[in-house]
Amino acid sequence: MTDSPSAETRSESAAASGDGDRTADPTAGTAAAPNGKTSAATTDAPGEMTDQAHRPFSPGLEGVIAGETSLSFIDGARGRLLYRGYRIGDLVAHGSYAAVANLLWTGTWDRSARLPTGAVPDAVITTLRALPQTTKPMDALRTAVSAWGSTQELPWPPTVEQARALTAFSPSALAAFARIRAGQEPIEPDPALDLTAGYLYQLTGTRPEPETARALDAYFIVGAEHGFNASTFTARVITSTRSDLASAVVGAIGTMKGPLHGGAPSEVVDQLAQVGSPEHAEAWIREALARGERLMGFGHRVYRAYDPRAAALRTVAEGMEHKPEWLQLAIAVEDVALRILAEKHPDRPLKTNVEYYAAPVLMGVGLTPDLFPATFSLARHAGWTAHALEQAANNRLIRPDVNYVGPGERDLPA
Ligand code: COA
Repeated sequence: MTDSPSAETRSESAAASGDGDRTADPTAGTAAAPNGKTSAATTDAPGEMTDQAHRPFSPGLEGVIAGETSLSFIDGARGRLLYRGYRIGDLVAHGSYAAVANLLWTGTWDRSARLPTGAVPDAVITTLRALPQTTKPMDALRTAVSAWGSTQELPWPPTVEQARALTAFSPSALAAFARIRAGQEPIEPDPALDLTAGYLYQLTGTRPEPETARALDAYFIVGAEHGFNASTFTARVITSTRSDLASAVVGAIGTMKGPLHGGAPSEVVDQLAQVGSPEHAEAWIREALARGERLMGFGHRVYRAYDPRAAALRTVAEGMEHKPEWLQLAIAVEDVALRILAEKHPDRPLKTNVEYYAAPVLMGVGLTPDLFPATFSLARHAGWTAHALEQAANNRLIRPDVNYVGPGERDLPA
């Protein structure tokens, strides 16, 4: 890949010490004793107390190179996403989630790879039954993975087998939770079904049509991996401490749960319901923008071009037999939204993102909007666990520095 970012962006990032404790020392430059205390008080401003005060700080670590990966390449300017060099559109058209997960874990493309859902240990079912009726699916999934970790031997470093077992377990656990809260019994995995078909079967009790399972599989492929997003970075930080794979994924789910990360497909559903019909789109969008609201499913921190995942999912949505009635509305509203966003932000391209067409695909396969974020997390298991493997293979404790901006050294009040 000639335009791989790795060569030019290789960073000489500050290395953490072996014990990971390189907190900016506010006494640096003063008469520090070996125990870190000083015998005489000073009134130095923080900037004079540390050799780190003038090192550049990027809020949100935006633009900071915090690692290297061979798992995915995001070309925001040209709207490209590659998994280990393969185009996302080709993977959706010709691959399966099982093959993509295997590619991410092993680096090998095996179109025939299989990944059925896994069994849910009794301890996890007991835990899920103990949760309050009001528990949200993301909380249930996070709890289930944590409980699962306590039933497993997960020695460090993580392995492909561990990654496969955890990725296979979670859809069964989420389906079990959905059934328990609906007053139904969990359903055992069917080893003849692959992961996405098995997830739908264990949710509904009915084996899905191949076309329905294929649509969800496409969604899982586009959701599998996306660089150093916040949840993936969390998984890598946890792995770098030599903690176990379940802990890394529990942390990743907790990070994914935040509304700034977990995605907006259910909000796309709400927004389209408010628009109501194509004739109302222009007025509704102009009024929403005038109120300072954002259009859900548009704009992206990285992509300036049309999100390639949105393009792949639009094709899938349009090809679905059981597409939601409002897919035609979504297509009509998209055209109006893109025109108005281009008019309002001529210097900042705001295009359709993955969430916009995730919504009709997830609705079309029969999922309720409250399951959307947790289902996205199931898809991202492949990426999280692949990053854990990659981190462990060349591990260095992730331990950045921080600029101290508090008071200078001073005496305690008498
Ligand atoms: N609708 C309307 N205006 C938008 C917009 C949207 N979806 N996304 C960005 N903008 C506008 C902002 O209001 C801002 O305008 P201003 O400069 O006049 O203040 C400008 O574009 C830049 O926005 P900024 O917040 O700096 O962009 P970002 O890269 O940080 O934001 C998102 C990325 C995804 C958070 C943002 O586009 C968004 O909120 N989208 C809607 C939610 C969504 O679809 N999320 C799923 C993402 S996969």
